[in-house]
Amino acid sequence: YVIGVDLGTSAVKVLLVNRQGEVVSESSCDYPLIQEKAGYSEQKPEDWVSGTKKALAQLVKQAQVPSEQIEGISFSGQMHGLVLLDENRQVLRNAILWNDTRTTKQCQEIYDLVGKERYIELTKNLALEGFTLPKILWVKSNESHIFEQAAKFVLPKDYLRYRMTGQIHMDYSDAAGTGMLDLNKGEWSSEIASAVGLDESLCPELVHSHKYVSQLNEEFVEETGLSAKTKVFAGGADNACGAIGSGILGEGKTMCSIGTSGVVLSYEDDSTATYDGKAHFFNHGKEEAYYAMGVTLSAGYSLNWFKETFAKELSFEDLLADVDQVPVGSRGLLFTPYLVGERTPHADAQIRGSFIGMDSSHEIKDFARAVMEGITFSLNETIEMFRERGKTIDTIYSIGGGAKNQEWIQIQADIFNANIVRLTSEQGPGMGAALLAGYGLGWYQSLLEGASNLIEVKDEIKPIPENVEKYRRLFDLYKNVYYQTKSIND
Ligand code: XUL
Repeated sequence: YVIGVDLGTSAVKVLLVNRQGEVVSESSCDYPLIQEKAGYSEQKPEDWVSGTKKALAQLVKQAQVPSEQIEGISFSGQMHGLVLLDENRQVLRNAILWNDTRTTKQCQEIYDLVGKERYIELTKNLALEGFTLPKILWVKSNESHIFEQAAKFVLPKDYLRYRMTGQIHMDYSDAAGTGMLDLNKGEWSSEIASAVGLDESLCPELVHSHKYVSQLNEEFVEETGLSAKTKVFAGGADNACGAIGSGILGEGKTMCSIGTSGVVLSYEDDSTATYDGKAHFFNHGKEEAYYAMGVTLSAGYSLNWFKETFAKELSFEDLLADVDQVPVGSRGLLFTPYLVGERTPHADAQIRGSFIGMDSSHEIKDFARAVMEGITFSLNETIEMFRERGKTIDTIYSIGGGAKNQEWIQIQADIFNANIVRLTSEQGPGMGAALLAGYGLGWYQSLLEGASNLIEVKDEIKPIPENVEKYRRLFDLYKNVYYQTKSIND
């Protein structure tokens, strides 16, 4: 058996998986987001550690599998979040997360110091508020007393792994999202570090996602009931792991994942492919492989926000129960999901969301559907960009919370104008993490071999031509809303 730990934004989920890729047991533990100001989003690294211990202890208890038979453990992590450690490896401040957008000034500073074109050439990405480098520079400028003590920076799952093993590493798939990796060379960029005035000793050692790191330390063994023999493997970025777990491991494969954020991700073999920063371009969890990706910052987060703000008394099931009775286009209601700014395609941390077309007859179910449609329109902007660059996207693997609702799947098929495939045993990024551990243990010749046990198609939903037409017109309107509301916060 192996364990996949999915360290997400709202919770940590752990899966116990056997060699055939079947989930034997699962458990999870929630932790809070700390949002002190608009645009700020933080978490306490200690909450990740205690939440993971709890979830693992529960898993071991309920699984009824001798702990010595759990051979490996690996990770999927929320990307980009900054954890700063001092020379004694103590956490210096709360982690600043991927959806925190306080760093617009630092992004500009990076372009001023490195040169925008050169920066994109080196990292293959824009300097975006959510990425790690601007966060480091924010701490340097605004909390110099903390920055002076910083000896290493790591990402969320790297911190968790450190606490389990005492070893500090970062894998390439997550390092690519720091904004400091020279993606062409596959090493930290000395040029960027020296231009922005950072000591390269801050950067952790780089490893591949399936690399064996160490065995579990005593503290974790005692508190979780796992065996000291369990081998710990590096793990990867959550989007890379989501792709591994759903078999996005070859050219032409595209996935849509709707969790707190939403992404459209497309596999790339060729490191020389270029999107000029218009899409993210990161290392995959598979060696010598990459992916291009567009990100909607507030996907599931928008629905959650809507429920908490306007329909707190309803469960999610109740909120979404009647969306299939609302016609395409939500009876004239249109939502843009820019609650904390937007990444793709606008790279604009200042834009804010909107509902337009409200009518006194609209009910909660119309709003709920409009939110689902707005999130899907936002993701369609990435698909449109990929198609304009010559990618054929006629089938999309849908994973995450967005794949659980039947109507949302039809909305995806109709707005994306593509067949949407769901997998029988879809487990999202946690399964990708488990596969990395299995591959690291030598269970499979390749990640694809491991994944092929799992990629059984559950259903394939086809677009309905009449709906595709209606959504095409609304999508043009949707795209316009950004330009019409852009100056709202000026
Ligand atoms: C990707 C991104 C998010 C997080 C969510 O660039 O910021 O998808 O990885 O955990």
